[in-house]
Amino acid sequence: MIKDISEVLYSEEELSARVHELGAQITKDYEGKSPLLVGVLKGSFVFMADLVRAIDLPCEIDFMVVSSYGNGTKTNGAVQIIKDLQVDIAGRDIIVIEDILDSGMTLSYLSGILSERGAASIKICTLLDKPARRMAPVTPAYKGFTIDDKFIVGYGLDYAERYRNLPFIGVLDPKVYS
Ligand code: IMP
Ligand code: MG
Repeated sequence: MIKDISEVLYSEEELSARVHELGAQITKDYEGKSPLLVGVLKGSFVFMADLVRAIDLPCEIDFMVVSSYGNGTKTNGAVQIIKDLQVDIAGRDIIVIEDILDSGMTLSYLSGILSERGAASIKICTLLDKPARRMAPVTPAYKGFTIDDKFIVGYGLDYAERYRNLPFIGVLDPKVYS
């Protein structure tokens, strides 16, 4: 797998240090509250697992699986909910956990759905932000790193379902998909 990576962007140690900073910030900001952390599968699973262990609050976790309609051919940004939350979120403080914020279409649609359900607050925590490709106005309250417009994999992120198990984040060599 490593031979397919052209550049390591964030090592295991760098990821761990940044995730601990994010966890400490969330712990401080949500003092006295018990937020519900909503992981967007599958990409967020590694980040979420590390992040929750860096948060010192009585929080709960749940997951959603969403998929975009079509292959970028539809431009309304609607996403299909494949797996929904199992708890009522009315009055809850929600933190949506994402691997990477790209066009923002997924999260802008998801935030809309969660706010219609009466959440007390909704904030976004993304490990990576690719602002160059933003189409929907989404601003994360917490973000690990801002990256250039390159296709990256590892630490939960995939290309064709592979590379999620790499412990670091790297740029996928374009020869793999061209
Ligand atoms: P968007 O913000 O609605 O465009 O969707 C972001 C989703 O696209 C992420 O959750 C990833 O699943 C996927 N994605 C975007 N950029 C990358 C990348 O560089 N590598 C792997 N997956 C990506
Ligand atoms: Mg994803």
